[in-house]
Amino acid sequence: MKFGVLTGGGDCPGLNPAIRAVVLRAARFGHETVGFLDGWKGLRDDQSRPLRPTDVTDLISKGGTILGSSRTNPFAKEEDAAQVLATIARHHLDALVAIGGDDTLSAARELYRRGGRVVGVPKTMDNDVSGTDWTFGFHSATAVAVDALERLRDTAGSHHRAIILEVMGRHAGWVALATGIAGGADVTLVPEEKYDEAAMLEHVRAAVSARGYALVVASEGIDLGARRGSTGAKDEFGHELLRERDVGAELARRIQEATGVETRSAQIGHIQRGGPPELFDRILATRLGACAVDLAIAGRFGEVAVLRGPVVLGIPLDEALGQPKTVTADWLDLLHTLEA
Ligand code: F6P
Repeated sequence: MKFGVLTGGGDCPGLNPAIRAVVLRAARFGHETVGFLDGWKGLRDDQSRPLRPTDVTDLISKGGTILGSSRTNPFAKEEDAAQVLATIARHHLDALVAIGGDDTLSAARELYRRGGRVVGVPKTMDNDVSGTDWTFGFHSATAVAVDALERLRDTAGSHHRAIILEVMGRHAGWVALATGIAGGADVTLVPEEKYDEAAMLEHVRAAVSARGYALVVASEGIDLGARRGSTGAKDEFGHELLRERDVGAELARRIQEATGVETRSAQIGHIQRGGPPELFDRILATRLGACAVDLAIAGRFGEVAVLRGPVVLGIPLDEALGQPKTVTADWLDLLHTLEA
């Protein structure tokens, strides 16, 4: 068989180990792999590179993606869709492995509906793909945010300040939730919960009076009412560029004004997305990449490799693309148990 592989959407640690697993698993059964560059753009514009086992053996600890990524939607225009199908035919691909989050996997589903022999591998630092317990990228990216919060704790304590750490995560609060819990924030704000300014200020005051400083973790996707900074700019899949809203800076302004406590904010942004994948992500990415190849060899196109408990398995793309997976009430309850 001839396999194609691509990585689409926002990059995250684990993409390279997943590519590596695809290539090595395919090679194990005597199959070859070609990598398409910059996500669906590479299939649309027919830009690729061969991927031999020797090209990927050293990728296990490398962040980013050697194939490049983009947020190209290949089905936004019919002529682009035709070009994708033409590239697949020109390369005589027997199977395509699309590694990505909701957007990349939706495009894979559309390709499957049009007769494409495609399987998916879920990834995203946001951890918001349904049908899988975890997506790789999340643990590594969140560990970076926890490290940042610990550093902010030192300086907040020295200066008796409140500090806000704004983290990524788009419309799912998993990154903020895990950062808040693992980093010991006094308040954690996630998009799944209506913003309550009075409660937030009360927690900040309580933390400052108890030990002289306060730490707040805010997800970029929370709604503070006023959309400061947003230009309304959207990507090809229609998502607003949330970091422009600067919710961390706005929160800092409000806290300082209401409490008189000197307040600063830090936006971690893309620092979260780089760096080597952590242990969990290396292994998950490897298992899912290999599973995707097995699904293709078994002719199970239109499926996506997922983790359920200790097991990796294939489920229909439709099942993974129902609703994004967001933070549930039991997690919020735990979070509130730990707040100042
Ligand atoms: O989906 C992953 C993610 O990192 C989100 O958490 C964030 O909102 C978005 O990508 C940022 O996108 P970009 O890299 O295009 O600025």
